[in-house]
Amino acid sequence: MDLMDVIRDRRSIRKYRSDPVPQEKIDAILEAARLAPSWANGQCWTFIVVTDPKIKHEVAQAGNEWIEHAPAIIVACADPKQSGAKGDQSYYLLDIGIAMEHLILAAHEQGLGTCWIGWFDEQTVRQALGVPANLRIVASTPLGCPEEQPQARPRKPRNEIARAQRYS
Ligand SMILES: Cc1cc2nc3c(=O)[nH]c(=O)nc-3n(C[C@H](O)[C@H](O)[C@H](O)COP(=O)(O)O)c2cc1C
Repeated sequence: MDLMDVIRDRRSIRKYRSDPVPQEKIDAILEAARLAPSWANGQCWTFIVVTDPKIKHEVAQAGNEWIEHAPAIIVACADPKQSGAKGDQSYYLLDIGIAMEHLILAAHEQGLGTCWIGWFDEQTVRQALGVPANLRIVASTPLGCPEEQPQARPRKPRNEIARAQRYS
């Protein structure tokens, strides 16, 4: 699939079929995340692939009950010390954002749905997955065959989001 087609056709998917995700597809999307760029090449990430129904249930209790119906959930953790900071700007969030987007686009290319989950109770997920206190849990996504085909959500026109040479 052409890169622009993948970017254009991806949607956040919130309804999934229960069929398990083949391991080779999980491997392909983790490979896309592994190849992401990061601050000083720190690669501060760990991705936890959860398919065990009991553990999925516990992760979903962090405020997104619907995600337990997906056959898999991928949780992205960061070790901020393996990334960097400039003043009050911590780069681990950017590192994870880029790697997650690689993962999400690769999933779409594999015919799988995802949905960024940015809001959740971190402590609930930490306990469910045994994530050590020095790591931050930044994001997660359900993963599986889509059971819905949402319309494209609106985007601002290009003349509202880009300027030539200077802001003003
Ligand atoms: C950083 C980030 C966090 C998000 N967090 C959530 C979330 O917690 N729950 C959810 O249902 N969707 C979440 N989303 C999905 C957005 O709502 C979605 O991307 C947006 O509405 C555009 O729809 P589309 O992805 O289908 O183009 C998040 C997206 C991003 C990029």
